[in-house]
Amino acid sequence: MDDLEALEGVGAAIASKLRAAGYTTIEAIAVTPPLEIMEKTNLGFNTILKIQEAARRMLSADFKTAQEYYEVRRNMRRCTTGCKSLDDILGGGIETQAITELIGEYGSGKTQICMMLSVTAQLPSERGGLDGRVAFIDTEGTFMPERVYQIASGLGLNPKEIANNILVARAYNSSHQCLLIDRLFTLCPENNIKLVVVDSMISHFRGEYIGRETLSDRQQKLNQYLHKLLRLAEAYNLAVVITNQIQANPTPFTGEPMRPAGGNIMAHACTHRIFLRRGSKGIRIAKVIDSPYLPEREAYFMITEKGIVDAEEEK
Ligand SMILES: Nc1ncnc2c1ncn2[C@@H]1O[C@H](COP(=O)(O)OP(=O)(O)O)[C@@H](O)[C@H]1O
Ligand SMILES: [Mg+2]
Repeated sequence: MDDLEALEGVGAAIASKLRAAGYTTIEAIAVTPPLEIMEKTNLGFNTILKIQEAARRMLSADFKTAQEYYEVRRNMRRCTTGCKSLDDILGGGIETQAITELIGEYGSGKTQICMMLSVTAQLPSERGGLDGRVAFIDTEGTFMPERVYQIASGLGLNPKEIANNILVARAYNSSHQCLLIDRLFTLCPENNIKLVVVDSMISHFRGEYIGRETLSDRQQKLNQYLHKLLRLAEAYNLAVVITNQIQANPTPFTGEPMRPAGGNIMAHACTHRIFLRRGSKGIRIAKVIDSPYLPEREAYFMITEKGIVDAEEEK
């Protein structure tokens, strides 16, 4: 972890002193004896202790009691998708302190759900929102502000206000995408960001790392950035939603013919996995396929002018 500025009490000046002294990662700061850091940086002893405390908190390097852990989990919040059946299978909405992964083929509704959440996340908690702003990393150029306007109007919200609270960045390649994710560690606390979207997490990686020999590099990078996203979600009690594609199984004899891209790395890093597919008559189906506690259930929804709605409601 090299986002030193993400630590409480560390601004650009202190970060550059730390880096100049060779402490370039949060891990290094957490484990180095404070006197040694003091000698090399000329920072005050108490300042260093505070920074180290923040570094350990960030890394969760200290033991916590089960009670403390319980308190953290109790602060977990949920964001409505605006669609009751979808909220139901998610246990009440998208969780903070977790990564929710939307998986599906082209046109299955991943981006539409992300745009919907970018609006609902801004709702007050009484209406099922997170009372916060949104950071949206768009890797495919499919984020549409006009849709945000439509969805916001559908919910009786001021579209301009809603659009003003969504910070969008277009990622042009995988290293740019990684840079933007690193940037979130300062952007999120400064802007009261409560939802982070990466749509899609994987497309640049799949496009750039071609061939078997590059696969382990790709997976390592992907793993590193998924874990950064998870730390971000935990550190700032925010929700992270990423999208993923499905691909043909290279060994179709051993399981499903199509499966989520990104392999085990993706499967393990994401807290909840939601599989999306098209049904008949414009109905779409969302299914929880992998979650530590949510049962495997399906929800039926539709995409309309107003965003994501229950299939029954529409009929
Ligand atoms: N205003 C709208 N009203 C109804 N359906 C829409 C609207 N905008 C987009 N859609 C539908 O959303 C689908 C695209 O979903 P999208 O989320 O972009 O898929 P992907 O999973 O590839 O991200 C299309 O089938 C399109 O018909
Ligand atoms: Mg999309």
